Amino acid sequence: MLCLGIETSCDETALALVGGGRLVGEIVASQARLHAIFGGVVPELASREHYRLLPALLDALLEENSIDIKAIDCVAVARGPGLLGSLLVGTAFAKGLSLGLGIPLLGVNHLHAHLLAACLGREPVFPALGLIISGGHTNFYRMEASDKFLPLGRSLDDAAGEAFDKVGHALGFSYPAGQMLDKLAQDGDASACALPRPYLDNDNLDFSFSGLKTAAVTAIAELGLEGAAQAPQKRGRLADFCASFNLAMSDTLAVKFRRAILRNPDVECLYAAGGVAANSSCRKAFLQLAADFGKRIAFPDPTHCTDNAAMIAWNGYLLASQGFYHLLDLETIPRGRPIPDDMLTSLPDAAPK
Ligand code: KG4
Ligand code: ZN
Repeated sequence: MLCLGIETSCDETALALVGGGRLVGEIVASQARLHAIFGGVVPELASREHYRLLPALLDALLEENSIDIKAIDCVAVARGPGLLGSLLVGTAFAKGLSLGLGIPLLGVNHLHAHLLAACLGREPVFPALGLIISGGHTNFYRMEASDKFLPLGRSLDDAAGEAFDKVGHALGFSYPAGQMLDKLAQDGDASACALPRPYLDNDNLDFSFSGLKTAAVTAIAELGLEGAAQAPQKRGRLADFCASFNLAMSDTLAVKFRRAILRNPDVECLYAAGGVAANSSCRKAFLQLAADFGKRIAFPDPTHCTDNAAMIAWNGYLLASQGFYHLLDLETIPRGRPIPDDMLTSLPDAAPK
């Protein structure tokens, strides 16, 4: 079975093909430079770019991999959460392909796909605990199966990646700032700046990062590090601050991850995904947790931590292999609304090849 995946939930226009249980090919056009001018994603511009790019990217993907469009057996698309206009462009494109090629359509939950990217090309291990730490979300799930994710906790305000981006912005990094902040942190002393580990004195699995963000932005002003990314003479102190921020974030995430494992002792595996799962300090902390509890742990490879279509194609492939599909009335779900559990199970003649 060959599954085409389409990702347009935010500012990456991406397409990928998964066949025979492995990634066959992928193509991605990042809009990061366009939005960097505005310091964040401009929804209308993002939708227009997806609309402009999708047909040409599909042609390029098929050509690069010498695949005939008729060889595609099903089409999976990120149906949400995300920016509504952007999601609508992707789902409309997917529905057109489903109708035109006569192949099943699958609407994929973008967050579930992020987590399943950690086992791309391998048999997923369940039950598992999944932590997604991205630019828009910080969510815990108990993962029972590729179609069964039980929410355990979430951020009540800023997402982890959003905190990296806003703190990075104050330091003078361009958007998205997490990767550059993490890179500089490698040369810094993580004990140099005292930053809080917020919202831990409770018994839940939720997060709150707005206090850490505010404390960090205040410290940046006090230390004279505003815009320091553009000031080579401040590099040493900037590196110390970045390392301290990295550690405050990874400590906070690890406390709740430990709590989640203690409450779900039967899980076989830990999955961490989303852009911030590429963070060096977070990876180190989570690897330590896995070792402490004797659990397996998996991360997506760094290119599949941020938004990509390989994860959508892989999630679609896993679901279609079990006979799940959607009809053309598939609803697109913007951020803030729960994604309904409305997949259908195929009749024998509707099953993908
Ligand atoms: O998963 P993703 O594409 O976001 C959403 O789907 O919402 O991840 C992007 C986020 C950005 O906030 C970016 O700053 C952050 O991930 N990020 C990192 C690192 N690499 C990307 N944050 C910290 N350390 C990194 N190495
Ligand atoms: Zn994402």
